[in-house]
Order: sequence, then C-alpha cells, then structure tokens
Amino acid sequence: MAKMEVKTSLLDNMIGVGDMVLLEPLSEDTVINNLKKRFDHSEIYTYIGSVVISVNPYRLLPIYSPEKVEDYRNRNFYELSPHIFALSDEAYRSLRDQDKDQCILITGESGAGKTEASKLVMSYVAAVCGKGAEVNQVKEQLLQSNPVLEAFGNAKTVRNDNSSRFGKYMDIEFDFKGDPLGGVISNYLLEKSRVVKQPRGERNFHVFYQLLSGASEELLSKLKLERDFSRYNYLSLDSARVNGVDDAANFRTVRNAMQIVGFMDHEAESVLEVVAAVLKLGNIEFKPESRVNGLDESKIKDKNELKEICELTGIDQSVLERAFSFRTVEAKQEKVSTTLNVAQAYYARDALAKNLYSRLFSWLVNRINESIKAQTKVRKKVMGVLDIYGFEIFEDNSFEQFIINYCNEKLQQIFIELTLKEEQEEYIREGIEWTHIEYFNNAIICDLIENNTNGILAMLDEECLRPGTVTDETFLEKLNQVCATHQHFESRMSKCSRFLNDTSLPHSCFRIQHYAGKVLYQVEGFVDKNNDLLYRDLSQAMWKAGHALIKSLFPEGNPAKINLKRPPTAGSQFKASVATLMKNLQTKNPNYIRCIKPNDKKAAHIFNEALVCHQIRYLGLLENVRVRRAGYAFRQAYEPCLERYKMLCKQTWPHWKGPARAGVEVLFNELEIPVEEYSFGRSKIFIRNPRTLFKLEDLRKQRLEDLATLIQKIYRGWRCRTHFLLMRKSQTVIAAWYRRYAQQKRYQQIKSSALVIQSYIRGWKARKLLRELKHQKRCEEAATTIAAYWHGTQARRELKRLKEEARRKHAVAVIWAYWLGLKVRREYRKFFRANAGKKIYEFTLQRIVQKYFLEMKAKMPSLSPIDKNWPPRPYLFLDSTHKELKRIFHLWRCKKYRDQFTDQQKLIYEEKLEASELFKDKKALYPSSVGQPFQGPYLEINKNPKYKKLKDAIEEKIIIAEVVNKINRANGKSTSRIFLLTNNNLLLADQKSGQIKSEVPLVDVTKVSMSSQNDGFFAVHLKEGSEAASKGDFLLSSDHLIEMATKLYRTTLSQTKQKLNIEISDEFLVQFRQDKVCVKFIQGNQKNGSVPTCKRKNNRLLEVAVP
Ligand SMILES: Nc1ncnc2c1ncn2[C@@H]1O[C@H](COP(=O)(O)OP(=O)(O)OP(=O)(O)O)[C@@H](O)[C@H]1O
Ligand SMILES: [Mg+2]
Repeated sequence: MAKMEVKTSLLDNMIGVGDMVLLEPLSEDTVINNLKKRFDHSEIYTYIGSVVISVNPYRLLPIYSPEKVEDYRNRNFYELSPHIFALSDEAYRSLRDQDKDQCILITGESGAGKTEASKLVMSYVAAVCGKGAEVNQVKEQLLQSNPVLEAFGNAKTVRNDNSSRFGKYMDIEFDFKGDPLGGVISNYLLEKSRVVKQPRGERNFHVFYQLLSGASEELLSKLKLERDFSRYNYLSLDSARVNGVDDAANFRTVRNAMQIVGFMDHEAESVLEVVAAVLKLGNIEFKPESRVNGLDESKIKDKNELKEICELTGIDQSVLERAFSFRTVEAKQEKVSTTLNVAQAYYARDALAKNLYSRLFSWLVNRINESIKAQTKVRKKVMGVLDIYGFEIFEDNSFEQFIINYCNEKLQQIFIELTLKEEQEEYIREGIEWTHIEYFNNAIICDLIENNTNGILAMLDEECLRPGTVTDETFLEKLNQVCATHQHFESRMSKCSRFLNDTSLPHSCFRIQHYAGKVLYQVEGFVDKNNDLLYRDLSQAMWKAGHALIKSLFPEGNPAKINLKRPPTAGSQFKASVATLMKNLQTKNPNYIRCIKPNDKKAAHIFNEALVCHQIRYLGLLENVRVRRAGYAFRQAYEPCLERYKMLCKQTWPHWKGPARAGVEVLFNELEIPVEEYSFGRSKIFIRNPRTLFKLEDLRKQRLEDLATLIQKIYRGWRCRTHFLLMRKSQTVIAAWYRRYAQQKRYQQIKSSALVIQSYIRGWKARKLLRELKHQKRCEEAATTIAAYWHGTQARRELKRLKEEARRKHAVAVIWAYWLGLKVRREYRKFFRANAGKKIYEFTLQRIVQKYFLEMKAKMPSLSPIDKNWPPRPYLFLDSTHKELKRIFHLWRCKKYRDQFTDQQKLIYEEKLEASELFKDKKALYPSSVGQPFQGPYLEINKNPKYKKLKDAIEEKIIIAEVVNKINRANGKSTSRIFLLTNNNLLLADQKSGQIKSEVPLVDVTKVSMSSQNDGFFAVHLKEGSEAASKGDFLLSSDHLIEMATKLYRTTLSQTKQKLNIEISDEFLVQFRQDKVCVKFIQGNQKNGSVPTCKRKNNRLLEVAVP
C-alpha cells in the first residue's frame, strides 16, 4: 500500500516532523527525540528549512536506487520526504534554470558521513544531468577521481574506517544546458604526520596497504617491496587489516579509476614508485659514530635499503647518504656544513618521507585537475561541493587538530552568516518585516586564531621566525601572555589565575573553547609542524633524482633557483587557503548538509542520545531552528498551499478560478484563523506558529476522511446503478437472443420437412424419367448391334472374295514359272549331262581336300612323341587318309626325337625299354620306377676310402653298387648288405667293413622272383648244386628293384646268351639250405607304416605284409 501512495507534501505520513521548524514545543529534547524517532524508522534525513540534517545509518539503506533518483527529479523541495537528493535537485535546478552558482557545504564530525554525502550529491547530479558519450566520459572521470583521492588521502582512524585526512573542495562546471563540462579540485592540508606515525588503533594512508595486498608479485619485485606489512616501520600493525575492507580489491579499483581519470601507465607506475620509496625510507636506521671533536655523528646502519631506494628513484647513493649525515646552512654567500646526530638524522628522514608523500598527493590532485578540467572557454555555471575534515577532539590534539578545528570554526561562521542572510533576504523579498534574532556568533573564536596581530597562528609564525632558541614551550609562554584575557582561551600558566588549579589542564597545553566544545591542544610539535622544515641538502638530493616525478616535486632543490627566503609556514598557508575558500563560498548560493554521527561504535541502529546532543549543540541546530522560525515558522508558495487546503472551504472546493493568493485569503478567512497568525508575502503565505499549521493539517485530515466517505458513497451508488443497468440491459439482450434462437429452430424444422418431401417427389420423378431414358437407349443400342453384324458379314464376304482372287493369281504365276523352267531344261539338257557334272564334282573334291590340308596345317599337334592329340576327322570319305597321316606324323616326330639322343642316352632308353617289357603291367612297383633314372653304382666305391678294400678285391667293371636289405632266412629280420653286380658276378658285402660275404657267378643265377605288388622284395634263385647255393637262395629287398632286375637280366643275357627267368608271383618257393620255404605276400595293414614287413611264420612259410 505504502508504495501506491502518491505524496504531494512532506507533511504526508510524517514520522516525527520532517522539518524541525515545525517542532512544537521546540527544545533540545524534542529535537533529539524527533531525530531518534526518525532514525529508528530509517528516516535519516530531516530538514531545518532548507538545511538537510543527515544521521549516519552505518548500513546500506534502499533509498539511493535509480527509482528514487527518478522520484526526486524535478520535484519541489518540500514535496517528498526529506532526502539528500531533494537538496541536490534543488541546487542543480536553481543552477540550471536560475543561473545561480551553487555550493554544497557538508559539515559534521569525523565519521558523520560527509564524504558519503558528497558522493551521493555527485552521483545524483550525474544521474539527472545531460547524457551523451562525451558528457558521460566527463561524469565518469569526475566520479572516478574519488577512489584515487580516497586511496591516497584517507586512512582508518579510531572514529572512521575511511576518514578523509585532507580537505576537499570540488567545483563541478556546467554549460548553459546543465551538462557537465569538467571540474576543479582544491585540496587542503593533508595530515602528513600520519605517513611516519599513526596513533594506536589507526592506520597509515590506505594506499600503502592496498599496494602491498593487491600488487602482483611482479610489480612488488619491480618496486623492491615485500608483501609482509611487518617489514615496514611506517606501517602500524595493530590494525593493519580493517573489517569489511578488501585492500587488494580496492587496489584494483584504484588502478582502474586512475586509468579512467586519464593517468598514463608510466605515470601510475611512477606514483607507485614514490609510494614504495616512502615506505622504504622508514626502514632506514641510523647509529651514532663518535667524532674527534667528541660529538656524535649519525651513520646509516644498513645501506641495503638506501641502495634500493636510490635504485628505485635514480638518486646517487652517496648524495643521499651525505644528505642524511650533513646539513648545509647558507647565509649570505656563506656555506656552513654541520654534521647531524642520530636524532636529527631521524628527523630528516621523517621530514623527507612526509614531504615526499604530501607533495605527491598535491601532484595527484593537479594531475586529476588536468584531466577533468573543462575543455571549452564558454561561460560556466559552477556547483562546489565541500567535504572537509570534521571537527575533531582527540585525547592528544596537536597542530593538525588545531588547523582542522579552525577550518570548521570558519565554516560554522559562514553557515551562520549565510543562513541569517538568506532568511533576511527572503523576508525582504517577500515584503515582510524583519525582526532581529539573537544567536551565538563564533567570529570571536575565529579572531582568536586568525587575527593578524595577536591571533594564535600569527604568534606561532612569529615564534618560528624569531632568532634564538625557539621551542614549543616558548610558544606557549607567548600565548599565555598575549591571549590570557581571551574568553575562549584557557591555559594553566596564563596571566589570569582562573585555571591555576584546573588539573584537567596540563602545563604543556592550552585549551580553546570552540563553538563545538572545548579542545585541549598539546603544544608539543606545533613549532616544528608549522615550520615544516626540510633540510636543503635533502631537497637538493631529491632534485637530482633520475626519477622525473620526484625531481618535479622538489623544484626548490634546483641550485640555480636557490631562495634564501623562508617558505611560508604551514599555518599561514592554510589560513590563506581557507580565506580564499571562504571568499569563494560567499559568492555562491549555499546549500547545507549537516552530518550527525549517531554512535561511536560505527554500528547500525544505535542512537547515542548524549553524543547526538553534543553535536546538535555545537552545530547550533537549535539556534538554526530558532532563527528559521523567529518570525514565521512555516512558509509556502500560494499555489501548493491552496492546492493542499482548498477542500476546507466551499468557495475554493473543488476549483478556485481566481489567483492563488486570493484563494488562500478566502480560505483563511473562512477558517477563521486569527490574523496575527499569518502574513501574506509576495509569493508565499507565512505562518507564525507551527500550531496553526498543524491545525490546518488536522482539519485537512478530517475533511479528507469526509471527502473519502462522500466519494465512497457516490462511488457505491454509481456502482450499484451501473450494475443494475447492466443487469437490465443484459436481460433484454438475453431474451432477444433466446427468442431469435427459438424462431430460428422452428423455421429450421419446417424447412427440413419441406426439403424431405421435396426430395421424395424429385426422386420419384427422376426414376420415372430414368426408366424412359433407359428404354430409349436400349432401342438405340439394338439397332446399332444389328447394323454392326450386317456390316461384318458384308466385310467378311468381300475379304473372302479378295483372298480367292489373290490365290488364283499366284497359282497362275507358279504354273507359268514351272512351265518356263520345263521348257528351258528340255532345250538345254543335252549339253549339261555330257560335261558339267564331272567338272563340278572334281572341282568340289579338289576344294575340299585343299581346305582339309590347310586346316590340318593350322591344327598340327606338338612334336612331343607322347602327345596323343590329333585333330578330329572332318569328312568321312577322308577317314583312311586321316589315320595314315596321323601314323606318318607320329613316326616322323619319333624319329626326330630319337635323332637328338647321344649314345649314352640311347643306352639308358634301351635299358628303360627292357624294364618296360619285363615289368609293365606286371609289377605294381614299375610305374614309380619309370621316372627314376637308372644310375647303377649308387655307392661310389672307387672314390669312398671306406670301401678301398672292397674295390681292391674286385677287378671287373661294377654295374650296380647299392645297399640292399638281406632277409635273415631264420627269422625274417633284415640286415644291410652291399649289392654288387659285375660283368660276371653277383656279390654281397658287409656294409660296414666292406668285406665280401658271398660271390655268385652269373651262370649260377637261375631265376629272380618277386611279387606283383608295390614292394621291393626279390629272391635270387641259385643253380642247385653250385658252390654258391650251399646256404640257399638270397631273399633281398631294395628300393631300386626294377633297375637291379633289369640290369641283372641284361648282363646275364649279354654274358651267358641266356634269358634270365623272371617270375612275378605273390607266392613263390625259395630254397633255404635243405628247406623249401614259401614266401607269401599278403596285404598288410597301414599301422606299420609304408614299409613292408617280413615275418617267418613257420618252417615252410615266410609272410611279407605289403601296405
Ligand atoms: N548515507 C550513508 N549510508 C550508509 N552508510 C553511511 C552513510 N554515510 C556514512 N556511512 C558510513 O559511515 C562511514 C563514515 O562516513 P564518511 O567517511 O562519509 O565520514 P566523514 O564524515 O567523511 O568522516 P571524516 O571526517 O573522518 O572523513 C562510511 O564509511 C560508511 O560506512
Ligand atoms: Mg570524509
């Protein structure tokens, strides 16, 4: 529901009061309660007139979304609930539309939310002002300058984790359309003492921690740094890590921001190098070394760090080392060089580090300004945003706090001046009488500090410039003399004895009663810090650096530009810049944001009333309210006022035709508001008491309720009536539709019946017609058929006739041809029979024979005598010729074949022929022997020395020499023997010894027996009664049986002229000594392999099993 509500005034749904001018009764308590109530409801902004009070919520609220920006855009300041956006919008619009330069002054103590507020203002303005690529770049650069400056200028303090340690004033420049053109940033006094020392619980500037946490290893080694914080003396370690802060991620953000703002890569790197050099400076340590004159001189303990710094910055090591040990004082062409003791050396080191860092910071601001400065020369409108360090009260307050608080004092003064001035101007503008208002003016405190003759800053400068020994104590003494009577100055030793017994006021301190409270300042360090002394030797060493950026930071180090005049002190510089700032602010239309810190714990939801009360007091808020409502508490332009309250009077409700002011007059008269309660300005109505306004508001609320009831009543009546009318109209429509439907249905029924009847009649008629048509058609078809038959008959008859005629014509032609042939043959017969027949016959025969021979020539078989092929006979009558020709051809090719033989070959073939005649078709072993050449002497007895004895014993030519198996007559087992055949003898010799066992003359061999089978067994029968036959016949077996038998046969024939008997039978008798034994060949089984086996069965039987 809340979202749906449309707000037209900040008075709507107010929590507490949105504008504290309306607070009733007005007191410190009510102000605090009002702020607390609003704070508890997440309303952190409250107005005092046009001033925005902001209470730091310490948590993210959903009130800065783009939708909110849209809500506040172009709306009147008091239209919506108080918001920083409303103030930003007001300022931006009056800059754009009324051409008034603006400044937004954000004040409050440290941690109150000033920096956040300044960023919110900038982001709002960026969101609502013009758009476009160029404009967006300008905006982006302006916004991105914040992270860079915060990294280098902000630090964690006990009060604020992101405390600004410098003052910042930024002018944003716009063109006439309100588009941003650029900006200029001014910075005020960086708290540089933080670089070398931080109070307990605080950190050095963010950038140091960001660099060490976020830099890559490569970058760190380039900068000669280590990641460990504890390595660096300048970094406080007790709070090095801040909760909720990711230094590494912030480092990336800062580098990215630098890039967007326009830093070149080498510039960003140079900056980091300076940061690294500062860090490393802190690690340089000194030790005393006694000199001849009895004084101590400082020396650097470990030169390694110094060396690295020099490498990093390009400074000559000896120059820097000397600058840490000597100090040259120049006065009127005279140069005096004195040595530094250890304490002085440390002082010099720290001064260098502080100066290096603070000058780097100023350089950064200038560099950013260079990037963001407006590019055009057209007239610019300016909006300044001031975010300066807040009022600070620490346990130990030193020179920095003094300066900071002085600045706040000045701001308070300008606030008072400008608010009062504005108030007065408004009264004059509106033509209302101005009454004087009493308020506390802090000009007196400002004067105490800045007065040129006896102000504290002037005293300090005087003391610093004075010859002779100057210490912080002499400065305090001076103050005690000069300021003793000032109401706001307190010191124990002042001439006035008021504080003599005040134990809360130590001796080395003075106290100032600031507008925001009393602050006790420790006088120690004031003189030094004001002097801000950097020994010339050091600045000269820096100027000599090879590092371009460092060189540029120390222009006074250039010996050519030596200036013996003292540089202005820190105090006077600051005073001057504050004065310029104030002047600048006074030319602009001020807008105030006053920040309040609700608690010291940086925690959400805690509202410490005492703390807030203190801030309210020193911010002078109560006085602010009082001033604001001194005359009239509330004012409003006539139009919105009439718009808001017109319902309270009959004449103005609902519309008032005349001018708004007249309308308001009528309205106030009608309501009988006492005349002293209000006053008419030129454009606004002024209401004296908030009471009157609240009465108006109550009446309005009441009236709104009545009006709501009325509207409700009328609306309900209207709704019922319209509902009824709608029902009635609907009923008529439904009835009409129903009637139409019923009639339609009836009509449809009648129509369909008519159609049925109609279709029956039409069907009947059609069938009748069809019947008639069919009859007619059949009649027509019959006629056609008859005609067709008739025509067919006629056609066939005609065809028959034509065929008959053709046949007759052909017959005539044939008979005629025969007749002609007969006539011709009769005439020529006598000539033909005598010669032609014989000639034709001869010719034909000749042709056939010729053809036969030519074919034979082509088909002639090969010249191989065993080739059986012969072409088939072509003609029967040539049968005998064909056979004869075959025989002749065969004989011829055989002769041809034989003619090639040598004598030796002839002998071999004769032998083979002999074997064929003896064994072909008789012995199964024969076919396998055909292919084997007959070699005869297989054993080379002549050559083998083993058979020398055997060779010697034989004189004749050896025809066969081969190993055979001799079968033992007794048991059928076999032994190897050498079988030898010579021209006259047959010999058996021992295979191993070569000794002749038996010798048989060929004449004694009567017969050779063998089986018809595939075995090599054979028996050699011997002549009965011969010498050799005494042991009986030989039973042998050989692989070359056919060859042996053939050679034996031939040798016997040639020697004895008798044919050797060769018996081929599967059963033959063999004479063994006296016994006749039957050798029987049987078919053996394959089990024994392919070798025939021989077995003696009994006295009479020897069985040979042939496989
Ligand atoms: N509007 C806000 N919404 C949420 N948190 C806020 C808001 N304003 C301030 N804060 C929180 O308070 C912290 C301190 O605010 P900020 O840094 O603006 O204080 P400051 O007034 O600038 O202090 P200093 O004077 O020390 O610079 C912020 O870091 C943030 O956490
Ligand atoms: Mg800040």
